[in-house]
Formats: sequence, structure tokens, C-alpha cells
Amino acid sequence: MLCHIDEIPDGGARGFSLAQGKVFALKKRQKLYIYLNRCPHLGLPLEWEPHAFLDAEGLYIKCANHGAFFLPESGECIQGPCLGDSLWSIDYELVNGLIMIAEEELPALPAPI
Ligand code: FES
Repeated sequence: MLCHIDEIPDGGARGFSLAQGKVFALKKRQKLYIYLNRCPHLGLPLEWEPHAFLDAEGLYIKCANHGAFFLPESGECIQGPCLGDSLWSIDYELVNGLIMIAEEELPALPAPI
């Protein structure tokens, strides 16, 4: 369980550290998206400040390391060193408003480069 869906503001994002890895959730136009917090460029976490996953306008997911931009709806990189690659999308279920993800949704990945 990550949190209640109402704890993520529309147009905002929130990061979570789980035993199996880091993920973040964002809400855009009342739709929720969850991704592994791992940039496809070097495998690093995307944010330098807690929960700061979006660009200044809140339009795109941004990697703080080398400035890659990703589409919130698909996780596809549209600008930056990993152009064309995508963030790892994580399926979820809502149970009474609680965001639930299955353990098997989190892949076993190698350490960052
Ligand atoms: S680690 Fe994300 S753009 Fe380089």
C-alpha cells in the first residue's frame, strides 16, 4: 500500500521508498500514474528534492540528474540522453481509495551505473 489517492494532489507527485525499491506516483487530470523511480539513462533516482518529480510547470516528469523529460501519461522520454526509452510503469489497484501495488510489479534490476 502506498497511500490514499487523495494524498496525491492533482498535478502533483509523491515518492515512496519500499523494501523492494523506490517508486513515485503522480496525478494528472485526476488520473493516477505510478513509475519505478529509476531513470532509464543511468538507473539513478530521478529527484534531488523529496517528491520533486515534475518540471517547473508541472507538465512533464523530469530527471534532475541530466535533464531528461518524460511524458506523465506513458513515461516515454521525449527529451534528453535517454530519448525514446521509457520509465518502468507499475500497475496498481485502488481498494477503498488506497493505492495498492503487487510486489511482483517491482522488477529486480541491477544497481545504477
Ligand atoms: S540519469 Fe536521468 S537523465 Fe541521466
